[in-house]
Amino acid sequence: MSTLHDSIFLKNLRGEPTDRTPIWVMRQAGRYLPEYMAVRKKLSFNELCRTPEAACEVTMQPIRRFGFDAAILFSDILVPLEPMGAPFHFGDGGPKLQRPIRSEDDIRNLNVTEAREGTGYVAEAIKLIKGELGDKTPLIGFAGSPFTLATYLIEGGGSKNYENLKTMLYSRPELLDELMDKLTDQIIDYLAMQVEAGVDAIQLFDTWGGILHPQDFDKVILPRVRRILDSLADSGVPRIYFLKGNAPFLESVKTLDVEALGMDWTMDLSDGIKKLPNYSLQGNLDPLVLYGDHDQIRSRALEICRKGTEAKGHVFNLGHGILPKAPIAAVETLVETVQGFRR
Ligand code: CP3
Repeated sequence: MSTLHDSIFLKNLRGEPTDRTPIWVMRQAGRYLPEYMAVRKKLSFNELCRTPEAACEVTMQPIRRFGFDAAILFSDILVPLEPMGAPFHFGDGGPKLQRPIRSEDDIRNLNVTEAREGTGYVAEAIKLIKGELGDKTPLIGFAGSPFTLATYLIEGGGSKNYENLKTMLYSRPELLDELMDKLTDQIIDYLAMQVEAGVDAIQLFDTWGGILHPQDFDKVILPRVRRILDSLADSGVPRIYFLKGNAPFLESVKTLDVEALGMDWTMDLSDGIKKLPNYSLQGNLDPLVLYGDHDQIRSRALEICRKGTEAKGHVFNLGHGILPKAPIAAVETLVETVQGFRR
């Protein structure tokens, strides 16, 4: 039986040598792809997430078009919130919660539910995708970190200053703790379901974890992230923790038992490697480089590939999600460049 054991993506996460650098990009299935927009004409974003056949199709689109070295489950970090009692929809301004979750009662009324019951369609999508991918390309499952989810719950959507969340942090920290603990329990079950359904790696997205003072990061975020990562320690599935803006928090992040850390573009990869020698690193091209000319794309991508050879393992990625206006030709140049690089 052939297995995914030889996948260069999984090998780099485990810190095993490979002759080239694997690449996938965050949000690789999304609005920059005309074939994605064609599906979205027929289905709303929520319908798409809840229809396993459609989620499978959209997951496969960037694999077929570009030959990325890993696929990522098509879904959203907010999906597990709906069965907890916090429904949302996606408009042009991003996600909107039906009601923000702010008061003591709001938080008490959230339910940690069986992931298989509330979000069984995600497990079904994973099984379909695994069938399509076969032994060639590994599948990444994911969840949002409790803190990043809490920002959307408390603010009711995206936010600039996180006024409601920070008011809670500085006036009723025990309430924020209660919310964080519920979210942590939910995510642990949600990720266990994904592992059971067959994902080959998981990524924990902490897009907004960087908005706190390091002391608050240590108190509010770190113990919950640790609990989630530790719950998967014996699963055999490598884990990636993506904390956007992680540079001020590396001393804390370094205490986590995790195979790989995501890096955004605000830190030089070589600097990250010096500070994090025991971790595989994933990143870290500025997504906006894709809006530049192709010589820039090539030279900046190659620089990252070369620097990455010094890391325990290196997976090429953007430092954050690809943007809807990224030109297809730019992505083609990026993938050709990275996959053509030899270590
Ligand atoms: O990476 C992938 O291709 C897999 C699917 C995926 C999506 N969102 C699809 C999506 C993943 C892994 C996410 C993660 C996610 N979602 C994060 C963490 C990573 C990050 O980018 O910071 C966050 C913060 C969200 C919340 C979210 N979902 C926002 C803020 C938005 C709207 C704004 C935006 O950037 O699009 C979404 C919607 C969303 N999630 C879309 C897609 C393809 C666009 C929806 C559409 O088709 O209209």
